[in-house]
Amino acid sequence: MVYREGLLGKGELSKIKYTSSLLDDAEIYRETILALITHVNELNKVGVLPSNEAEAIIKALRSLAKEPYKPSDEYEDVHEYIEAVLIHRLGDAGGWIGLGRSRNDHVATALRLRLRKLIIELASSIIELRRVVLNKAIETADTVIIGTTHRQPAQVTTLGHYMLYLDELSRDFLTSLLSIYEVVNKSPLGSGPLAGTMVKLNRVREAEELAFNGIVENTVYATGSRYFMLASASITVSYLVELGRFINNIEMWLMPQLNYITLEPSHLATSSIMPHKRNPATLEVFRARIGEAVGHLVSMYSIERPVEAGYQLDLQEETRHAWLIMRIAIDGVGMITDLLRGIKVNEGRVKEDLVKYPVTAAEYVELMSISRGIPFRNAHREVAVMIKEGKNPGINPTEAIRGKEVLGGPNPSIITESAKARLIELSSIEAKVKELEVSVNKAEAELMGD
Ligand code: ARG
Repeated sequence: MVYREGLLGKGELSKIKYTSSLLDDAEIYRETILALITHVNELNKVGVLPSNEAEAIIKALRSLAKEPYKPSDEYEDVHEYIEAVLIHRLGDAGGWIGLGRSRNDHVATALRLRLRKLIIELASSIIELRRVVLNKAIETADTVIIGTTHRQPAQVTTLGHYMLYLDELSRDFLTSLLSIYEVVNKSPLGSGPLAGTMVKLNRVREAEELAFNGIVENTVYATGSRYFMLASASITVSYLVELGRFINNIEMWLMPQLNYITLEPSHLATSSIMPHKRNPATLEVFRARIGEAVGHLVSMYSIERPVEAGYQLDLQEETRHAWLIMRIAIDGVGMITDLLRGIKVNEGRVKEDLVKYPVTAAEYVELMSISRGIPFRNAHREVAVMIKEGKNPGINPTEAIRGKEVLGGPNPSIITESAKARLIELSSIEAKVKELEVSVNKAEAELMGD
């Protein structure tokens, strides 16, 4: 996905090149062909296109799908290009595809078909991330780490506890993703440019052929809205922003001054001049790309906001940002999954700091308040004075972790139990996503004649 080539600097302005979506349309080449095959089938079924001609067009479309996408510059978009190829190969008969079709309903269909697949791909990578994180939670349920707030040592907890935080965030996102899938998975096909067509297309039958779960009913909404795309992009970016915050925790723990964790060397880069460096390269790039994704989302909002209901070319310009967001998410989630698989705690280093910083002072105050029967604030004041005097009041870190029965807290047996239960729950979510994938692939294979 690239920005338009510089055209104006070359001394001539090619308006077609300036407005064309051909470059971005590479993403929906196959999906545009799928929509067309369904359309041609439908023209035949409603009796306006004879079978022999329908078969010839479908045959040409299927073989086009197997060819690399290499349109020459002169077309406005993939829809125009495919029609031109059909006419070139089949003669005037290729022009039948224009009947009852608008690029407006066809692009909306292709976008939904493509986004549907990307959501499945992203959901599968989230499932893999969750599996790694949950297993890591079990493995590190009692591996002590010092948790921070305000970037200051706060309370003692475990890496497993942090892993379950990542899992819960990812579970929330997965729920949103599968729910937006239901919004995306509806067919706009047969809606015409805005207000339908005189051809009696059976939109429900077309939707079934493409394995959509129903149709987008209103034809103005079907052709002119991008809510399905905006909403998918927006939940994805919200997740990326939240996930990206943990990059900073990892980076902080990795600083040689703290040295709480180690990562697999493949995630670290050296310096060309400073031989001692081990820079967290993949994390830095992911963090930057999350920033980019925020920018793409802002672009989508900004582009769409002033556009009236009904198709306008602004919507074409919005599309590439959605693809980029999905790509950033899929790649980044894969990368962070790999990184978390190899994360290890330097327990010795953490132990040193447990002695140095009063990270169980809060627990100490609470127990003091309970055992001496004095108000919490009085105990707090007493302990604050001790800390000011350079003492390190606290309780045994293991006791601070194991002694807590709070649901969702750091207690290792609570962590292990939740992680195991979630792994079971995850398998059923995975089966559901697999089912979606199978139905999408089956429809595609049938239409492509594979
Ligand atoms: N290329 C356009 C897009 O990607 C679809 C074509 C609609 N063009 C038009 N002139 N109505 O959104």
